[in-house]
Amino acid sequence: MKSTIAHLENCLQEALKAAFSIDATPGSLLVPASNPKFGDYQCNVAMALSKQLKQSPRAIAEALVQNLQVSDTCEPPEIAGPGFINLTLKPAYLETQLKQIQASDRLGIETVKSVQKVIVDFSGPNTAKEMHVGHLRSTIIGDCIARVLEFQGHDVLRLNHIGDWGTQFGMLITYLKEAYPEALTTANALALGDLTNFYKQAKQRFDEDPAFQETARLTVVQLQSGDKETLKAWHLLCEQSRIAFSEIYDHLDIHLVERGESFYNPLLADVVKDLDKSGLLVEDQGAQCVFLEGFTNKEGEPLPLIVQKSDGGYNYATTDLAAIRYRINQDHADRIIYVTDAGQANHFTQVWQVARRAGWIPETVQLEHVPFGFVQGEDGKKFKTRSGETVRLKDLLDEAVSRAQADLEKRLQEEERTESEAFIHEVATIVGIDAVKYADLSQNRTSNYIFSFDRMLALQGNTAPYMLYAYVRVRGISRKGQIDFDNLGSVDMVLKDETEFALAKHLLQLDEIIDEVSRDLLPNRLCQYLFELSQKFNQFYDRCPVLQAEEPLRTSRLVMCDLTARTLQLGLSLLGIKVVERM
Ligand code: ARG
Repeated sequence: MKSTIAHLENCLQEALKAAFSIDATPGSLLVPASNPKFGDYQCNVAMALSKQLKQSPRAIAEALVQNLQVSDTCEPPEIAGPGFINLTLKPAYLETQLKQIQASDRLGIETVKSVQKVIVDFSGPNTAKEMHVGHLRSTIIGDCIARVLEFQGHDVLRLNHIGDWGTQFGMLITYLKEAYPEALTTANALALGDLTNFYKQAKQRFDEDPAFQETARLTVVQLQSGDKETLKAWHLLCEQSRIAFSEIYDHLDIHLVERGESFYNPLLADVVKDLDKSGLLVEDQGAQCVFLEGFTNKEGEPLPLIVQKSDGGYNYATTDLAAIRYRINQDHADRIIYVTDAGQANHFTQVWQVARRAGWIPETVQLEHVPFGFVQGEDGKKFKTRSGETVRLKDLLDEAVSRAQADLEKRLQEEERTESEAFIHEVATIVGIDAVKYADLSQNRTSNYIFSFDRMLALQGNTAPYMLYAYVRVRGISRKGQIDFDNLGSVDMVLKDETEFALAKHLLQLDEIIDEVSRDLLPNRLCQYLFELSQKFNQFYDRCPVLQAEEPLRTSRLVMCDLTARTLQLGLSLLGIKVVERM
């Protein structure tokens, strides 16, 4: 079924054509009304056309309304002020729409007509270093974006661009050779926790000792040129990291295809060669680079993007250039979405500029960076442990779960309920993880956010526990009504109360919100929608008796409960958030 806004937009397009022979850009004619006083939707095009048509906006609006055929959907359109056209949905229309979404297992939301191949590049931790909260944000936001696009029916490839190649291995392997050689020859000799410590020690050695530096550099060259022994050591280290990463992905229920930096190694030489062919490559102090347009250093000279260092090594940018080509030519991507912290914005702008100038990006391909802010501690500084270390993700998730468990046990005691250990464990695990995810997704991702267990686990406010609680409650009501929602046959939806109308309209907007999230890639819009949904539901439930109502109102209201629960469940699942049936 077509979304209401899309349907009305279509009607307006036709009216514009009939009245003035104008073809408007799709999607430009209608916005949701800013205030319910003005109805549900608003069209402001009359003002914009006044100059071009040499008529007053009011006259244009009147002509449009005369040609506008929306009587199936709306009350007679009203013209307000200088020429705003206000549209109010008819109760009968809302009732039919509700019946349709009730009967559909996708709540009436169709899959897209033109399916795109979309690559979502997210998570991207670095081997041999532990994942930090920045990677957590990328993982949670990227997963949500992938879920929304998948739900729409796009062909999504979730790629994990792991940092598994490069200088850190030279350092690490050199260090382990002296400190702990077994790690390089025996599987499972190292847990990632140790690896991180070794990495720190290796880095220290690297910074202090020139001879060590030299050996480390040589080791990188050996690795990149395929030396057997070095490669074996590298494999072992990667495998070790992989085990630790997948533990976290399992915990978070995240699925990703690993295609790390090393994957592109065989393609790097061609990147440089082809840049040379296209005339962009310049040698500068022994390094191969492309001078960027619009980027200058302090002296005002153009900034180079280095694609091959003077020692022959390649870098992060070269790999991303190779990755773009592979994703376009081999994966046939139409849209490539990169989810990283805002600090990498320049990196992507530069890499894309070079790829564009080299002619590697067809006009039909869309490249997007989805930046996000920092995670801060409650003191507003960068999120650290008490002792000043970066917070290990595993510890963070474990703490969220154990705090959720403590909250639950306290509540059970207060309510004098006894529950099995299995129940407590299951609910705490789900609530703890949900809380971390929801806290991240409900913020506008571009700003920094303060990490607070207390806030994210609170039962009040825009939090996961609040949303889960709303879901459980609504489910409870429809369960009590003992209605077989799957076999309702023909029901008569009856909307009476103002709060019922408000809830109905909100329920019918899910498809608009999903479109919006897939376009703007802002998951907080979906959180906000779900939060408002539960508030609108509460207002309805306060005002309108459900189980006590007379038929046909009773069934109609039970359907409203059922639709609310299903909308919450679907919306939360697109955020990667699991629901519980009791809590
Ligand atoms: N490994 C990188 C980091 O830790 C993220 C990778 C992002 N993806 C990309 N194609 N560059 O910052």
